[in-house]
Amino acid sequence: MGRLAPPWDRLLLDARLATLRDDLGAYGAIEDGALAWKDGLIAFAGPARELPGEPAALAARVESAGHRWITPGLVDCHTHLVFGGDRAQEFERRLQGASYEQIAREGGGILSSVRATRAADEQALLAASLPRARALLADGVTTLEIKSGYGLDFETERRMLRVARRVGETLGITVRTTCLAAHALPPEFAGRPDDYIAATIEWLPRLQQEGLVDAVDAFCEGIGFTPAQTRRLFEAATALGLPVKLHADQLSDLGGAALVAGFSGLSADHIEWTGEDAVRAMAAAGTVAVLLPGAFHVLRETKLPPIDALRANAVPMAVATDLNPGTAPLQSLRLAMSLACTHFRLTPEEALRGATHHGALALGLHDRGRLVPGQRADFVQWRIGHPAELAYWLGGELVHAVHVAGRRVQ
Ligand code: NIG
Ligand code: FE
Repeated sequence: MGRLAPPWDRLLLDARLATLRDDLGAYGAIEDGALAWKDGLIAFAGPARELPGEPAALAARVESAGHRWITPGLVDCHTHLVFGGDRAQEFERRLQGASYEQIAREGGGILSSVRATRAADEQALLAASLPRARALLADGVTTLEIKSGYGLDFETERRMLRVARRVGETLGITVRTTCLAAHALPPEFAGRPDDYIAATIEWLPRLQQEGLVDAVDAFCEGIGFTPAQTRRLFEAATALGLPVKLHADQLSDLGGAALVAGFSGLSADHIEWTGEDAVRAMAAAGTVAVLLPGAFHVLRETKLPPIDALRANAVPMAVATDLNPGTAPLQSLRLAMSLACTHFRLTPEEALRGATHHGALALGLHDRGRLVPGQRADFVQWRIGHPAELAYWLGGELVHAVHVAGRRVQ
C-alpha cells in the first residue's frame, strides 16, 4: 500500500460514495465520505472521520464534492457502436409487422450495415462513431467495449477495430475491442458458412498481432452460426490465448450459454432463452451474464432471461447498451439500466452493479468498477439525491463530472 500513502494528488471531502463494496449496506454507501487518488489510482475511499490526518496535510489539492453522490465510472461491456449508415427504415418496416429474422433472411438487417460499413473509409467511420461514444461518456461511461462484425472481410473488420481503438484514444477512455467477424454470413460465402468460419480463424492471429483484439465473440443463432461452428472458432481463439464471449440464446435456445461457459468464457450475452442447467454451468465457470434490455425492448421480445436462476446461482449480472444500428440504437447506459429494471425487474442497485463492477468482470477487467483503494480512479459525480435515481430517470443530464484515472474528462 506504500505507493498509495499520502501525500495524495487530490482529496474530495463532503462526498457520498456508492462504493459498491459487498461488505457494506445498500450500494456500499458511505454518506459522510472522502475520496482521494494518486497516480491515477484510488488511494482512499471511506468515511471522512477515518482519514489518517488533517485534510490539508494529506493532499496537494483538497476540495468539497458538495455532498454529491459519487459512483465508479460506468462500464458498457457490449456495444457495436462502430458502423456506417443507420437502419431507421428497417425500424419502420418492423413496426409494420416484419420480423428481425425475416428482414435478415432477405439480406437486410446486419448485412445492410455491412454494405454501409464497407463503403466508409476509416475517417468517415470514426466521424460517425465518435458522437455515439461521446453520448455514452456524457452519461458516465468510462470503459467501453466495441465489437467489429459489420465488415465480414479482413480489411473492413480490421478498419472497424482500428476505429474502435481510435475512439478510445480520442476520448481518453478505455476501449476494449472484440472481434465479431462471426456475426453474419457475408454474401461472398453464401452457402459456405464453414469456409467463412475458417477464414475468420485465419484473420484472428493477424488482427491479434496488430494489437486489435482483446476478445472473440460470435452470433450463435439460426440466422447466425451453429454451435459447432462457434466451437471451432472458440477453439482457435483459445489456442491464441484470446478470451471468448458469445451472443447466446437471444432468439432461440441453441445451448450457446453452456457452450461459452465450457470455454470459461468471459460472458454469455442476451441469454433470453437460456435454461437453468446452463446458468449452473455459467456459475461454475465464472461466466458473467450480460443483460441487454435495449435489444429486448426494441424487438418487443417477451421471453425474459432467467433472472431468478442467475440470482440463485450467484452469477454476476452485467447490464450493457448493445448499442447497434439494428436491435438497439441506444446511446445511454443509464437508460439500459432503467430498461433492465422495468423489463427484467432488476433492482436499481443490481442495475448499477451491472453497469460497473459486473460490466468490468465481463471484460476481464479486475482493476475497476468499485470505489476501493487500488482500483483505477474512474468515477462519476452525479446530480442526484439517491443512487436509485440513476436507473429511475429516463434521460436527463445527471452527470456533474467524470474522471478517468484521476483526470477530469467531462
Ligand atoms: O447484439 N444479435 C446480433 N447482433 C446484434 C444486432 C446486430 C444488428 O442487428 O446490427 C445484437 O443484438
Ligand atoms: Fe450485440
